[in-house]
Amino acid sequence: MSKQYKNYINGEWKTSEKEIAIFAPADNEALGTVPAMSQAEVDDAMAAARAALPAWRSLSYVERAAYLHKVADILVRDQEKIGAILSKEVAKGYKAAVSEVVRTADIIRYAAEEGVRLSGEVLEGGSFEAASKKKIAVVRREPVGVVLAISPFNYPVNLAGSKIAPALIGGNVVMFKPPTQGSISGLLLAEAFVEAGLPAGVFNTITGRGSEIGDYIVEHPEVNFVNFTGSTPVGERIGQLAGMRPIMLELGGKDSAIVLEDADLELTAKQVVAGAFGYSGQRCTAVKRVLVMDSVADKLADLIKAEVLKLSVGMPEDNADITPLIDTAAADFIQGLVEDAADKGATALTEFKREANLITPVLFDKVTTDMRLAWEEPFGPVLPIIRVTSVEEAIAISNQSEYGLQASVFTQNFPQAFAIAEQLEVGTVHINNKTQRGTDNFPFLGAKKSGAGVQGVKYSIEAMTQVKSVVFDIQ
Ligand code: NAP
Ligand code: G3H
Repeated sequence: MSKQYKNYINGEWKTSEKEIAIFAPADNEALGTVPAMSQAEVDDAMAAARAALPAWRSLSYVERAAYLHKVADILVRDQEKIGAILSKEVAKGYKAAVSEVVRTADIIRYAAEEGVRLSGEVLEGGSFEAASKKKIAVVRREPVGVVLAISPFNYPVNLAGSKIAPALIGGNVVMFKPPTQGSISGLLLAEAFVEAGLPAGVFNTITGRGSEIGDYIVEHPEVNFVNFTGSTPVGERIGQLAGMRPIMLELGGKDSAIVLEDADLELTAKQVVAGAFGYSGQRCTAVKRVLVMDSVADKLADLIKAEVLKLSVGMPEDNADITPLIDTAAADFIQGLVEDAADKGATALTEFKREANLITPVLFDKVTTDMRLAWEEPFGPVLPIIRVTSVEEAIAISNQSEYGLQASVFTQNFPQAFAIAEQLEVGTVHINNKTQRGTDNFPFLGAKKSGAGVQGVKYSIEAMTQVKSVVFDIQ
């Protein structure tokens, strides 16, 4: 019989009347069940979190940091246990799954250390009125309160830790909702917080389908801040429901790799393929299109094709580069994009093969802007090459996207790379490297429909704390 996982609420592990069965996307193995929480149970959990807030926020940063260091130690100790389930639950290569757990421990530790270094400031009155010279403001940060942290299936553990740890070190209490496909991994992450001995109510979990309880938890009056990573449509919905409450959204992307004539094409091809096909393309920061100058396009296409053909296709436990996608709907969506490009005349450089959710890597050359692949986020192993005749055209196509997460520029000419970076409507530009989130202390943000707010350990703590000033007059 598969294991029955429980939610952690107010210091206790709890079941719900309804349950959701979780199966491995790669081979349909039954992995266990998680509770589908009712609205009444959510209310109880929210009340417990609220009640735990005063004592938690009154602890010193050092005391809160000590709990987080313990969590990080436990995750490092349990990296293989959690990684093994994570690998099965989201069909991620085993080594990558273990490294996601270790990366999460690193973020938690970094957040603990960053919190200890937080400081306020003292300001002197600055207007021209004589009396203002007497005024002093003591400016400090205080927690926003109850933070709702929602993570996506592709990094259910890491993109939970990147929200939970900065929230907790800032003095907030947390309601963590993992993705349904990824919720067992999320609950294993929760076990680390439990073992570290956090006081009851400070950290709680909510499982259940987003389509059923998502609106309820986002609109819940006890929630003071929603920190979400996932798709743009769900992020937009959260934005509507959040009202005046602050939110942080990490959403979809259509990252471009812009390749100039003077680029090191061998390096570019390796970076582009690693960026496009890591975890089968199921990364927000995946390279999702190549915009290459026409004069070097033939050579680059050959080099990228050679790298793509080296990718292994198989099962997560074998650490294959390309593994089955998260579900059938995802594979159907990608097949639709591929068929659209083929029908409209793109040149297929690899053969399209699909077995259930497993799609072999797809590379298209001569993709044009009338094709869906030029604009839509596949979240799968397909890469379009779009040929351009000028830098201006590359920038224009890149900026025409509704998304604005990241971009890469490949060139030997650094001043030109900087000039291009300045014109790209994205949160981060990488020079001669693939698009990627890390390192996790860097600011991470999306322009346009790729998000709102800035993540990155220090930035996340700042976002989930608010400034309070105490002003007084000196004699
Ligand atoms: P998703 O379908 O939007 O789900 C993300 C999370 O939101 C899951 O926990 C989901 O729960 C929950 N959810 C669904 N409906 C909700 C609602 N109405 N209210 C509140 N929560 C709700 O996204 P995904 O398929 O897991 O992830 C893939 C997408 O995430 C891609 O578009 C990718 O680009 C984006 N992403 C962005 C970043 C970034 O940093 N910018 C990072 C990773 C992923 P259920 O699983 O129960 O539905
Ligand atoms: O899927 C979105 C993640 O934030 C990407 O992280 O670039 O380290 O794979 P990554």
